[in-house]
Amino acid sequence: MRSPLKKIPASRARLGMYVRRIEGKWRDHPFWRNSFRVADTPTLELLHALGQHEIWIDTRKGMDEEAPVPPPPHGDVLPALPDPLPEPDVTRTDFGDDIVRAEAIRERAKAATRALFEDARMGRALRMESLAEVIDEVDNAIALNPAAMLSVVRLKNKDDYTYLHSVAVATLMMALGRRLGFEGTALTELGLAGLLHDIGKVGVPDATLNKPGRLGPLEWASVRQHPEIGWDILRRDSVAGPVALDVCLHHHEKIDGSGYPHKLDGESISRVARMGAICDVYDAITSDRPYKRGWEPAEAIRRMAEWQEGHFDRAIFHAFVKLIGIYPTGTLVRLASDRLAVVLSQSAGSSLTPTVRLICAVADGEPLEPEIVELEDGVDRIVGIEDPAQWGVQVPQLLRV
Ligand SMILES: [Fe+2]
Ligand SMILES: [Fe+2]
Repeated sequence: MRSPLKKIPASRARLGMYVRRIEGKWRDHPFWRNSFRVADTPTLELLHALGQHEIWIDTRKGMDEEAPVPPPPHGDVLPALPDPLPEPDVTRTDFGDDIVRAEAIRERAKAATRALFEDARMGRALRMESLAEVIDEVDNAIALNPAAMLSVVRLKNKDDYTYLHSVAVATLMMALGRRLGFEGTALTELGLAGLLHDIGKVGVPDATLNKPGRLGPLEWASVRQHPEIGWDILRRDSVAGPVALDVCLHHHEKIDGSGYPHKLDGESISRVARMGAICDVYDAITSDRPYKRGWEPAEAIRRMAEWQEGHFDRAIFHAFVKLIGIYPTGTLVRLASDRLAVVLSQSAGSSLTPTVRLICAVADGEPLEPEIVELEDGVDRIVGIEDPAQWGVQVPQLLRV
């Protein structure tokens, strides 16, 4: 299925299109909203005046371009990808739309990663073609709404953990890379490195990877081989560039030299491998595993801040916290006004003032209009984090609204 969202130069806008987002900061353009229908000529002229500045249009809510680009031909080397999730006939908010779209991208990325791991397991040449396609899709989704894409890759069940963990690390690395100034092919390489970083786990028995209890010394030694096994697989095929090879081999190194396989320390660990270490640990500890429940993102960030001294690069970790937030997307928060809200996305300024959507009054649980409040404006503030289970709230469902 082709995505309903499409990036075009503003000069190609026409009446009847629905603009979902204008690239860049709001100061760069004259529109006070980011999403709107091109309903009149003055609006159209303002858009045309932006020239090559890029805009995202939603072809489900408005007109498409006159001559749609034909879908890419299907080569027979690509693994069969599943159909996207069915679209229920409901009206969603723009945020809910982005979540549903991100879920479809996550499923396609998972299928491509599963096919890749199968190739590695069988000793076949790795089919990389479909990876470039999914990395492109993930990158577009991050550009449009990083909070939506980051929140859908966190939820996994134990059967597809390895594949979704790879997709999650790829997403985190590209989102972090954008923050750190990576562009173009450098971003693509980060995504590829994320998808491939644990490919060496095909050389570790499943019983060990999924063991509910503590690992014995031999099992632990086997797990610790996965970076080198992966590196050998990638080198054998010569399919991965230096970034993917480096991240695969060194994503378990720690700044204080206590990591593996080479006990590298400080600057001797490359920047991309230090980024990989942070993204890898965050996703691992926020995911449910056979031996423990995943932590809530806010709790994970707090714990990682405690460990950061020896484990992580301080500057990269700070950029990561800005990306994820002190109150990450999906966190249930209590506001000073005694209202309950769910965090949708981070604000450009402080990590303490995300954008939230109201849910209900604390006093009587009375549902509130699902109004979006930008806490950055100072109209309200967060006074605490609440447990979704205690309120009988399903966060994934809340975000899909
Ligand atoms: Fe790993
Ligand atoms: Fe990993």
